[in-house]
Amino acid sequence: MKKIIVTIDGPAGAGKSTTARRVAHRLGYLYIDSGAMYRAVTLAALRESTSLDDESLGELANRCDIHMEPGYESQAVFLNGEDVSLAIRQSNVTGSVSQVSAFPRVRRALVQRQRSLGLLGGVVMDGRDIGSVVFPNAEVKVFFTADTEERIKRRLSEAIERGESIAEDEVRQQILGRDKIDSEREESPLVKPAGATEVDTTRLTMDEQVERILELVSQCANF
Ligand code: DC
Repeated sequence: MKKIIVTIDGPAGAGKSTTARRVAHRLGYLYIDSGAMYRAVTLAALRESTSLDDESLGELANRCDIHMEPGYESQAVFLNGEDVSLAIRQSNVTGSVSQVSAFPRVRRALVQRQRSLGLLGGVVMDGRDIGSVVFPNAEVKVFFTADTEERIKRRLSEAIERGESIAEDEVRQQILGRDKIDSEREESPLVKPAGATEVDTTRLTMDEQVERILELVSQCANF
């Protein structure tokens, strides 16, 4: 059986990560959360007070050792050997990650690593530009959407689960702000990739989302 590449792109809160992780688990594939890589570089930039220009951030991105350990319920993320799985989800990182990830050299550094992780196939990767830029020839490409209010609700309950005290309005501002930067930036903006299947997850359960993707995989001629 050939090991293929499955990409899931879409805005924050559309349900990409959990779905992608479960799909990967069902297929025995590797799940790669590309957003976590941009978050890890952002955390490093905040810690080092790196100036927010292309050259400094690109150099930092090249220097960061980012390692991910897959798990069924969550994925551990290590930055230069330190477990930063929780730190990269804090609101200081969430508030700056779109700005950092818009810089071309940051993207170049991370896209290169993402491609090398997918060299042998057998990968489910989620993000904003995975089906359009990182793996334009992926066998299965999915584009998730969901109503904005539903996405805000999901992100808010995730934050509450992590024990963060964050107001709904702050989550709304973060999501709307990120939507705008991620889809309007010049370099690899968030778009529905050519050949992607759009799935509106607003009224789908997690199981339905997973099954929808597994169905696309099983219909894939190369699988
Ligand atoms: O998926 P996430 O919310 O953890 O992603 C965090 C940010 O990283 C997102 O707002 C934009 C950026 N990102 C990106 O530019 N390209 C990707 N492939 C993944 C994430």
